[in-house]
Amino acid sequence: MHHFHYAGRQLKCEGLSLETLAKRFGTPLFVYSQATLTDHYRRLDTAMSGVDHQICFAVKSNSNLGVLRVLASQSSGFDIVSGGELRRVMAAGGDPRQCVFAGVGKTEEEIRLALRHRVYSFNVESEAELHRISRVAAALRCRAPIALRVNPDVDARTHAKITTGTYENKFGIAFETVESLYARAARLPNLWLRGVQMHIGSQLTSVTPFEEAVRKVVPLAQRLKERHGIEFFSVGGGIGIVYQPALESGQADWWKSPAGSKMLTPERYATRLLPLLQSVGLRVLLEPGRFISGNAGALLTRVEYVKRTGRKTFVIVDAAMNDLVRPAFYEAYHEIVPTTRRPGPVIPTDVVGPICESGDTFCKERPLPRVKEGDTLALLSAGAYGSAMGSTYNSRPLAAEVLVSGSKVAEVRRRQALKDMWKDESVPTWLRV
Ligand code: LLP
Repeated sequence: MHHFHYAGRQLKCEGLSLETLAKRFGTPLFVYSQATLTDHYRRLDTAMSGVDHQICFAVKSNSNLGVLRVLASQSSGFDIVSGGELRRVMAAGGDPRQCVFAGVGKTEEEIRLALRHRVYSFNVESEAELHRISRVAAALRCRAPIALRVNPDVDARTHAKITTGTYENKFGIAFETVESLYARAARLPNLWLRGVQMHIGSQLTSVTPFEEAVRKVVPLAQRLKERHGIEFFSVGGGIGIVYQPALESGQADWWKSPAGSKMLTPERYATRLLPLLQSVGLRVLLEPGRFISGNAGALLTRVEYVKRTGRKTFVIVDAAMNDLVRPAFYEAYHEIVPTTRRPGPVIPTDVVGPICESGDTFCKERPLPRVKEGDTLALLSAGAYGSAMGSTYNSRPLAAEVLVSGSKVAEVRRRQALKDMWKDESVPTWLRV
């Protein structure tokens, strides 16, 4: 359920027309729906209500301060992967004590920062990291709360670049060795063994791999609870969303339709996982990113040119892979629709950005309505891993972002000014004339 719908010919985000927003704030423009963010948060929260739990929104999926504030106001915790993300959470009014700090390469400085702000737990990815955290905690005369990230060696059956739970990946500690590592960690006086964590991948569209992994980790969690008194079991993130018919899925009962009935919903997720999780009696942590932010955002872009060559139609738009890299990077599908619907035939279209790379392509030969210069298009489901993965490649400024709530809108990120792109660069003195 999301809040991007056509009202007559106009595509709207909640109560506002996207065409009007594009005119007012310019393009490329990320538009976020506050109601979608809170609905998704609450829906998962409600589905999991059969067990003591805490949702920790994965900041990497969308780190805009406005978005983080929406989630903080719902009492969300946060899954962070850098000192920068911790600072962002705090800048947005989030509680560092509700943060879990993940990632394979935490620096000493980041560990110090996280300890000073009393994060809920470090999700530890290696023995070397465990020793480093222990050393830093000793120097600060405190005990660091930790959970080992166990790699359950379960194939998430998702895109290779976003699979994390098999031994092919750099993540986590092998299932077979994790218990002996807990035993060694228990001898380090500056560590507090607080939990166990797993995350098998992102954009999972079936609950089966989650169930397989949880089923495998539950007995381990049980033993760790008995031996070391751990308090929580984090099942990670990864709940997939519907990219293809995202617009139709906005209809309240779309998920009951034949296509929708196969979709991974929080209810299906909870129905299969809760009985397993309830049996352990640990607090459950969830780290969803995409499920909360994905369908809550769209990227608006203006058509600059329509170019017909031989047998192809290229629609050249003002957004590019620097704004939304997912299609180039993961061959990801994003639904593309006009913000003003007009009757007429559809034609196979390549929607491409202006960057000098063939990969700068949002879709290939997709049947789309005929568009003309100056029209606005919306790339849907761009709320997760969109702006957060943005860059200034080709010296293109970072896009503006707005947050909509009902008929209110706020610019939550100003479009980057051109001169700000090189404000931290300089020419060496020996080259100055
Ligand atoms: N927890 C951990 C330990 C993670 O590594 C991730 C995502 C999450 C939670 C959140 O996963 P989610 O619920 O959003 O699936 N850039 C890629 C996705 C990379 C995901 C990285 N880790 C994409 O655009 O598809």
